[in-house]
Order: sequence, then structure tokens, then C-alpha cells
Amino acid sequence: MHPLVRQFRDRAAANVDPAFWAYVTRGMDAGVSVGEAQSAWQHYRFSPRVLRDVSTVDTRASIFGDFASPIGVAPTAFHRLAHTDGEVATATGASAAGVPLCLSSRSTCRIETVAAEVNGPWWLQIYVTKERAVTEAMVRRSVAAGATALVLTADTPYVGHRDIVGSGRPIQLDDDLALVNMGEHLSPEQFADPWAHVDQDPSIDLDAIAWLHDISGLPVIVKGVLRADDSNRFVDAGAAGIWVSNHGGRQLDRAVSTADVLPAVVAEVGDAVPVVVDGGVRDGYDVLTALALGASAVFVGRPAIWALVADGAHGVETVMTALCDELRHLMGLAGVTDLAQVRSAGLIAH
Ligand SMILES: Cc1cc2nc3c(=O)[nH]c(=O)nc-3n(C[C@H](O)[C@H](O)[C@H](O)COP(=O)(O)O)c2cc1C
Repeated sequence: MHPLVRQFRDRAAANVDPAFWAYVTRGMDAGVSVGEAQSAWQHYRFSPRVLRDVSTVDTRASIFGDFASPIGVAPTAFHRLAHTDGEVATATGASAAGVPLCLSSRSTCRIETVAAEVNGPWWLQIYVTKERAVTEAMVRRSVAAGATALVLTADTPYVGHRDIVGSGRPIQLDDDLALVNMGEHLSPEQFADPWAHVDQDPSIDLDAIAWLHDISGLPVIVKGVLRADDSNRFVDAGAAGIWVSNHGGRQLDRAVSTADVLPAVVAEVGDAVPVVVDGGVRDGYDVLTALALGASAVFVGRPAIWALVADGAHGVETVMTALCDELRHLMGLAGVTDLAQVRSAGLIAH
């Protein structure tokens, strides 16, 4: 774990409500998947190249937008429980670091307000809600606000059991805050029982990909993919990207580690669409491993939240910049000077 990530984690742990801390850090049920996520990256070994000119190393990434780094901020819910400025602070920090930001559809700041802080491309994570009008309206607002891609979270037909694990009580969250984006699209009758309408519809299937593309005109990335054979079904159905994720161990516990399945997904998808990954990424070594295994971008969830709790926008900028700096340093030590080389140099020992 990068020392700064550890520092922010420890500062955050000391400063937040224990219920929120449990909500952020714990996995579903026994927490097997969340426990295995980080160590799975450490099973790989590098075969570095030497005596190559590495005096200049370029970490720039082009993936549904141009970024200074391939290390992005994954979508996570309810940032105003982490910091009073919420997702506005996260966006400001990510933007200052020049990294990809995927805003959660469970954002506690309005999409338009967050987008105004982003100096560059950003993506929106979306659920297909039981009341389709909510998803459709949020997608249209995001397009108008400048989103460059949609991320359909596919691993959450039902929400995993995790809110009360650890602290023994659920997080306190007013509907006003939780529904700041979705609430206005519900009728007064629906608003009487809002979660019956804004939870993801468990009956959705492959058609959701084309539907989201049709209403937005944006590329649709499918998030929550853990199988090679699934990824090709999604590409055939119109997905513009595959996001390998087990939701940070918060959905089906005992699901495989993303580090373990990434190579098979990349092999299956080939160059058809970019593959991105998240889960237990805590330092530049994990990032370099993921990129060398064929990922086009690598996302962090909890490290960004810990930085947000500890130091707001500045914390997010600091941690994302530190991860990028470490990646640049490690690329030099591995003998590669840009992301295309990381991918093609055969850096992973077999
Ligand atoms: C507190 C929390 C809230 C999350 N909320 C969402 C969400 O709203 N939508 C989503 O697609 N994924 C959500 N995720 C999953 C993340 O996008 C990501 O897959 C995961 O955090 C990556 O693992 P990491 O935290 O080990 O980096 C959430 C994760 C956490 C920790």
C-alpha cells in the first residue's frame, strides 16, 4: 500500500462516524472477496527490461477522453457523508490531478454542480432503475453536463448485505441527500416510497446496453464483469468497454479477485474494446501489474474516499498524483516509457 494511501486511511478511520467507516471499508457478509483483493495483485512478478532510454516516461492515457494518468476515481456513493463538499470536492481533486472520474449515480451533489468543477472529460455510473424515467432523466442531464461515457453497473441486481456489518447500525442518510439527483424525477406518489423506484431493476439484461447508448449517444462501459465469456456477450451487445470489478467485495462475497480474472477477460476481448479494472488497487505496483496484464485504465474506490475524508479536494488530488508519480517511477524501473509499451513489453513473468 502506498504510504500516502495508508496515511489517509488511518486519518480517515480516526475521524469518521464508525457506521460510515464500516460502510466504506467492509465487504459483503464474511468479507472474503474484499480480504483477498489486494493480495491478489501481489502474486504477479515483473520481468523488467533494462538498458533502454527511460529518461522520459509518459503516463498519459486516452480512454473516452484524454487524461494525464490511467489511474481513475471509481464511482462510490454518498460523498457528503465523507466531506461537507462531497462529490464537488472529489471532482475538483480528480480534475486537478488530471485523472478520470466516474461519478456515482448515488452522488449526493447534483450532477450539474459536480460537472461544473471538472476541467475535462468525466463518466457517469448508472443503474437502470425500476422507474426507467429516473435513469433516462439522469442520463440526459449528464449528457447535457458533458459526460463522455456511461458506466452501467451490472453486478447489483440487489444490494449486498453490508450496511450494518461492523458497526452494528446502518449509516444515517436523509432521503433529501440520497435522492438529490433522483428525487425530482419521481412523482409525489412514488416519492412516498422512493427506494422501490430508484433501486436497480433486477430484471435487466443485455438490452440495457443498447438502450443506454440510444438515449445518450455515449459509449457504454459494463462494470462488474468477472468472466471472459460474459465480456464477449457484452461487446456483441454494443458495449464500448468492459470494467472488471467485483464492486470492491461489496456484492457477491467469495467472488473471484479481479487481479485473477483480468488476463482471461483481456485475452477474450482482444483489441475489440478497452478493458478497465478496479478492486484492491492500493499502489503503483498494483497499477503497473494491471496495465501490464492489458488494462487500459485502473480505478481506485476506497483510497479516494479516505483521501476525501482526510483532506477534501486537496486530499483527492494529492493521493491521485502520488499514485501517478509512483507509476511513472516504476515504469522507468521496468524499462518502459509509455502505456503502449507497458502493455506490449511482456513485463509479467510467467
Ligand atoms: C463506499 C462505496 C460505495 C460504492 N458505491 C458504488 C456505486 O454507487 N456505484 C458503483 O458502481 N460502484 C460503487 N462502489 C464500487 C466501486 O466503484 C469500486 O468497484 C470498488 O470500490 C473498487 O474497489 P476498492 O475500493 O478496493 O478500490 C462503491 C464502493 C465503495 C467502497
